[in-house]
Amino acid sequence: MDKPAVVIDNGTGYTKMGYSGNVEPQYIIPTVLGSKPDDGIGSSAKRAGVEDLDFYVGDEALSHSTSHQINYPIRHGIIDNWDNMERLWQRCLFQYMRCEPEEHYVLLTEPPLNPPENREYTAEIMFETFNVPGLYIAVQAVLALAASWGTRDAADRSLTGTVVDSGDGVTHVIPVADGYVIGSCIKHIPLAGKSVTHFIQQLMRDRKEPIPSEDSFEVAKTVKEMYSYVCPDLVKEYAKYDANPGKYFKTFEGTHRSTGSKWSCDVGYEKFLGPEVFFNPEIFSSDFITPLPDIVDEAIVKCPIDVRRGLYSNIVLSGGTTMFKDFGKRLQRDVKRKVDKRMKDNVAKLSAMHAKAATASANSQIDVNVISHSRQRYAVWFGGSLLSSTPQFYQLCHTKAQYDEEGPRIARHSPVFTASM
Ligand SMILES: Nc1ncnc2c1ncn2[C@@H]1O[C@H](COP(=O)(O)OP(=O)(O)OP(=O)(O)O)[C@@H](O)[C@H]1O
Ligand SMILES: [Mg+2]
Repeated sequence: MDKPAVVIDNGTGYTKMGYSGNVEPQYIIPTVLGSKPDDGIGSSAKRAGVEDLDFYVGDEALSHSTSHQINYPIRHGIIDNWDNMERLWQRCLFQYMRCEPEEHYVLLTEPPLNPPENREYTAEIMFETFNVPGLYIAVQAVLALAASWGTRDAADRSLTGTVVDSGDGVTHVIPVADGYVIGSCIKHIPLAGKSVTHFIQQLMRDRKEPIPSEDSFEVAKTVKEMYSYVCPDLVKEYAKYDANPGKYFKTFEGTHRSTGSKWSCDVGYEKFLGPEVFFNPEIFSSDFITPLPDIVDEAIVKCPIDVRRGLYSNIVLSGGTTMFKDFGKRLQRDVKRKVDKRMKDNVAKLSAMHAKAATASANSQIDVNVISHSRQRYAVWFGGSLLSSTPQFYQLCHTKAQYDEEGPRIARHSPVFTASM
């Protein structure tokens, strides 16, 4: 194929799209659609068969929220409104990518544990509605692993690792061995970007900062993305702020939406308390209190023993909510502490029984590595861009000819990439 593949990563919050071979998606839009509410009677537009054009996607949909009904077709990473998803893809291909879909292979992404029927529906829409010549539906975690290769030597390029993918609605921990997701060991936690924003909003509200209430969620989101970072020790961080507020407190300025007048507020402890929900979740929620490092450790310990070392030594970050400064550093420290403690306990237990075995065990350290890298924010998309620019991609795709011959069931399984590229 001489034309580059189209790569689309549809997330719960944002859709990332662009052409294969680029380092960043060309367009990022909220995964949302605004359509005219159905009055049930059938308007004249409907009778004329043009009703399908009266809808908006992305930011345009959000700005028409008073006249149009807003729908998020993806929930927790999984497509749940197929009509709206088809309309969203239509705009992605024609309005944003401006492509003739018959001329481009397409790479789409799927979350862990996506039902196989969803791959079939996706194939049906791509081949029948858009007539694409070839399609590959890649597992997001595998793409995130590939995205972390960066400038690593070919020999170090591994499709074994643990992916921590944190977007807007959910955080997944996904162990992958040789490009295959170990499905039974995936873990997820109901905390992600939206929870952090809610927490920051709450903290600022409790401090009675003079933020217009209709803007408070957006302000909290901006504060989160601009200022938040992960600290090594909560108590010491509080002490630092209290000793020198002038240095650590910031001022945030905004404009009233309706009156246009200016307002300002302080930004303080929420800078480090926001992302702390991943490490001390009890400060935010009473329902979910297991820290992310424990979840990562539990997921790996559940995996077959022969892959565990590889999973600890290549913990890869992906998604917007892993972008907090020092997120990877803290995760690595806390996972390592857990692993070292278990090792020490085991050695103590063993030495009571067998001194030689205890020494051998004490000498076999486990390497814990969390990989932060420059493409982390859009890791899934970038991994898709990378893999779809290799010759192997075209061999792995399902083609239109295969679809015409066998139907949607060809998409039940997607062949797996190998790391030797
Ligand atoms: N610099 C940043 N620091 C912290 N959070 C950020 C930053 N940039 C973006 N985010 C947050 O990342 C989230 C979006 O991430 P992403 O695009 O990976 O999610 P998604 O793919 O749409 O969702 P999901 O993976 O849950 O389906 C939002 O909550 C956003 O506020
Ligand atoms: Mg995502």
